[in-house]
Amino acid sequence: MSSSLENLGTENRKFPPTPEFAAAANAKADMYVEAKADRLAFWEKQAHALHWDKPWTQVLDWKRPFAKWFIGGRLNASYNCLDRHVIEGRGDRVAFIFEGEPGDSRTYTYAQLLIEVKKTANALIELGVKDGDRVAIYMPMIPEAAIAMLACARIGAPHSVVFGGFSADALLSRIQDADAKIVITADGGYRKGSANALKPAVDDALKGETNVKYVLVVKRTGQNVEWNAERDVWWHEIVERQSAEHTAESFDSEHGLFILYTSGTTAKPKGIYHTTGGYLTQAAFTHKNVFDLKPETDVYWCTADVGWITGHSYVVYGPLINGATQVIYEGTPDSPTKGRIFEIVEKYGVTILYTAPTLIRTWMKWGDEFPNASDLSSLRLLGSVGEPINPEAWMWYREVIGGNRCPIVDTWWQTETGAIMISPLPGVTATKPGSAMGAIPGISAAVIDDNANVVGNGGGGYLALTQPWPSMLRGIWGEPERYQETYWSRYDEAGYYFAGDGAKLDDDGAIWLLGRVDDVMNVSGHRISTTEVESALVSHVAVAEAAVVGANDAMTGQAIAAFVILRGGIPNVGGEELIQELRNHVAKEIGPIAKPKQILVVAELPKTRSGKIMRRLLRDVAENRAVGDSTTLADPNVMKLIQAGLNAGSSED
Ligand code: WT7
Repeated sequence: MSSSLENLGTENRKFPPTPEFAAAANAKADMYVEAKADRLAFWEKQAHALHWDKPWTQVLDWKRPFAKWFIGGRLNASYNCLDRHVIEGRGDRVAFIFEGEPGDSRTYTYAQLLIEVKKTANALIELGVKDGDRVAIYMPMIPEAAIAMLACARIGAPHSVVFGGFSADALLSRIQDADAKIVITADGGYRKGSANALKPAVDDALKGETNVKYVLVVKRTGQNVEWNAERDVWWHEIVERQSAEHTAESFDSEHGLFILYTSGTTAKPKGIYHTTGGYLTQAAFTHKNVFDLKPETDVYWCTADVGWITGHSYVVYGPLINGATQVIYEGTPDSPTKGRIFEIVEKYGVTILYTAPTLIRTWMKWGDEFPNASDLSSLRLLGSVGEPINPEAWMWYREVIGGNRCPIVDTWWQTETGAIMISPLPGVTATKPGSAMGAIPGISAAVIDDNANVVGNGGGGYLALTQPWPSMLRGIWGEPERYQETYWSRYDEAGYYFAGDGAKLDDDGAIWLLGRVDDVMNVSGHRISTTEVESALVSHVAVAEAAVVGANDAMTGQAIAAFVILRGGIPNVGGEELIQELRNHVAKEIGPIAKPKQILVVAELPKTRSGKIMRRLLRDVAENRAVGDSTTLADPNVMKLIQAGLNAGSSED
């Protein structure tokens, strides 16, 4: 993809909104003007869309890198998502249309969802959860996952959702880091046509040292589970007998709402910490204006799992605050057929679809016959998130899925930013295939060079955020110095937030995101650290040293390529079995998403005299390119050795 990335920004096609779309859009051009005139007043106005039990006295307190928004204000996240709609007469509106992978479906109105959340909140209280306690959630994509999050929010207990695809070890380290008191999980979930167990990973994780008192278990698949009678509690047993009354307490605007772990440049994931008032303000504002949500008529569907930030902001908090009706789907896009997503769009008349480029490219590969077999005419807006979308995939999305009718919003943001930062406004922006266009109203982004100078149109550099924003992370859980160091030290003088993405401005000033510039890979829109995979590899007895790079991959954006040096005495080259074992070992340590696609056994790694691994050269090898300039290597022969060894042993699934 790097070669096609070089051409980015030379795109001349432009797709302005139709006059009809523009006229009816929630967000008009004057929003940019208004936000520019007075940024804080603009956000203050957006915060008024929430219900506050007590108003704030100050909009922003900014002592870099620490921000507080809507100081003194008090509110309850779950009240804003649920009670408010019921009180204001929208209780009968459908909140969730759940489609299970086997084809079972359930709907929840706002009134029903509120009852479930109140009962679950009461169950958590019975289990001793108090405000400020952390709750780990490790669930399949079922309504109870959202219910659990909202119940935590209701009682002021920050949740830490751990993606169900992560391993027991990854779950344990997250439970330990946040010192969670309770884990909420399920026996399993349906994936690719069968029941996929989750509870055994929790059982395994809890063999480690934790302060977890209870495990609350949803029965989803009915598969056999081991049971620890002192610790494990069935969800249906405890939740069903609870009172359906629970008054939401109000919490400070800066009360912790959740921690969500994401990969950084070291082996230890960062616990990204978000609070309540500012986060909800920006999640709701962006959801309403970027997706142009009309809650009375739209059927919205974001395909993300609640284990990622997209699931937090655009499945749970943003849509529910806005009173949306949305689809939640448990399974994979190819189960039972490659047309599953399109069938669901037709079945429920989905109007807004938000998904990731990796899935769009997969659909392209599978062929147009799958989308063409379903009636997709209900769609009126399409969104993309997670990685740069190449212009070809953008055009295909527009033509084949959107019938040339739907505006596309390519939304750039991060776990850390909490909500969308760079995106077109669908009723305003003339979009270009492959560009996220510009910062949304109220957000200040810039493309800068190494010295923090803003580049002009046509220039390239790094993406920086130049002003604090309401949904920004408030820190890394328990690691204030790491927070400062990771995001704020690089442009300390300018005072900018370093996003870790390369970017360029085209001649019109549109922003083109170019991918990560740090040691973080993006595989199918999931962030994985090279160091984390390296440390998983070297934790295997056979491995002495490992270097991992993200190699460009037409389907997944990047694919993980690992170079390993085996310990003395371990028979190596050609050992397919060992390579398979190493791949499985990484899956066990981190999760299947981190499995290297290729593992090459090498005798040496290319290092500079100061011992730094030259990943650029390894990337050349992994991408089957001629190896670039290697004159700064301590041992110039190393690359020859690696390439000679290539013929002897490699692996790929
Ligand atoms: C990284 C953040 C935001 C939710 C999903 C990922 C990349 C994200 C885009 C986009 C180009 C994108 C960036 C970013 N990214 N959206 N529209 N265009 N790149 O969240 O795991 O926190 O990853 O994803 O590299 O830094 P995340």
